[in-house]
Amino acid sequence: MLSPTTITIPDNSKFSLINCPRTSRRPFNITVERCYILLIHLFLYIIIFILICIRFGQLNTKQEKILSTLNLNHNVTLYQESQNRLLNYPNHKPDCSCQQFSYPKRNQTTRCLDLRVGLSETISNVFCPSSSTEYEHNQWLMIQNRRTNHINFNRTWIEYQRGFGNIVDQLDFWIGNENLYWLTNNYHCRLKIELTDWYNETRKGIYELFHISNQHDDYRMQIDGYSGNIDAYNKFDSFSRWHNNAPFSTYDHPATETTNCPDLHGGVGWWYHPGDECAHVQLNGFLPTHGDGLVPYNTGILWIGWKSDRHFSFQHVHMSIQPKLRRDRNRHRR
Ligand SMILES: *[C@@H]1O[C@H](CO)[C@@H](O)[C@H](O)[C@H]1NC(C)=O
Ligand SMILES: *[C@@H]1O[C@H](CO)[C@@H](O)[C@H](O)[C@H]1NC(C)=O
Ligand SMILES: *[C@@H]1O[C@H](CO)[C@@H](O)[C@H](O)[C@H]1NC(C)=O
Ligand SMILES: *[C@@H]1O[C@H](CO)[C@@H](O)[C@H](O)[C@H]1NC(C)=O
Repeated sequence: MLSPTTITIPDNSKFSLINCPRTSRRPFNITVERCYILLIHLFLYIIIFILICIRFGQLNTKQEKILSTLNLNHNVTLYQESQNRLLNYPNHKPDCSCQQFSYPKRNQTTRCLDLRVGLSETISNVFCPSSSTEYEHNQWLMIQNRRTNHINFNRTWIEYQRGFGNIVDQLDFWIGNENLYWLTNNYHCRLKIELTDWYNETRKGIYELFHISNQHDDYRMQIDGYSGNIDAYNKFDSFSRWHNNAPFSTYDHPATETTNCPDLHGGVGWWYHPGDECAHVQLNGFLPTHGDGLVPYNTGILWIGWKSDRHFSFQHVHMSIQPKLRRDRNRHRR
């Protein structure tokens, strides 16, 4: 027990903020009251903390909801687009399988995407969220690979649309234009190209911008922000210089009516640019059957800025993309 002499005027003045009668106050009461005030403060802090936590949780589930709604809407549009496509191209054989476009599905356990390529193959664990909120150190997803001639790249619009090739071994495949459209429209992506010649020299190019539009716009490609060493003169690169904004073409769906560019390049699909040359960079071409790197004119894997010979084909090449940032927040704001 405190002795009465310890009650001093400054002590009382502390409590003058609270409208309590001071006359009958005893030392014991003051201590208890202090405890109460402390407890009340603590209690308030805890409630505020809980409220913040609940709000944060709501935000997260809201984001998931937005994403799933986007996926759902995308699904509906895709289906309608596939119907329109069939109506617009009466010469196309109605291929019922083309309605089963690939939709990235999110694995609830890993939160990674599962991409369907072709009719039955799946690539799993794609674009997994990294531990940091930034997408800086995310994995690269291979979207195209050329190493052998075992897979024919002379294919139709619909085959390029849904993807084909040796998906399991990730050898000689095309991931599918619909997948590219979905991925580059839901994430800001960069593109990496690794190209190897017959002296085993590998050169690399990275593009900070890589975007594919939808099939109504013929999967037009936007590409920019190059850095790398593929071209002999580093000031520009052949791919974005000639092919930025080019639509995708296949032999049965050439973008220009005057020239069937795929026919001039062994029938393979690509983002050909307008003009008689069609391509300064063509990475879906055929590999040579013998080690001298020579192929029939314009049918090989071309990169004119490195080897300016249209009879030459590189030894192998692959293209990969990496997510930089999710797009859905921007979309939601609009
Ligand atoms: C997307 O469409 C396919 C085929 O129409 C359907 O089987 C699937 O359930 C749809 N997915 C969603 C999330 O609605
Ligand atoms: C999700 O990924 C985990 C781990 O890779 C796997 O075991 C599980 O089967 C996957 N779930 C689905 C629905 O694919
Ligand atoms: C390139 O590498 C392969 C496999 O490592 C080797 O067999 C070949 O001789 C190399 N070619 C040249 C020109 O060095
Ligand atoms: C590509 O394939 C089609 C269909 O098989 C064929 O008619 C065409 O001649 C091929 N194109 C080339 C350039 O080989």
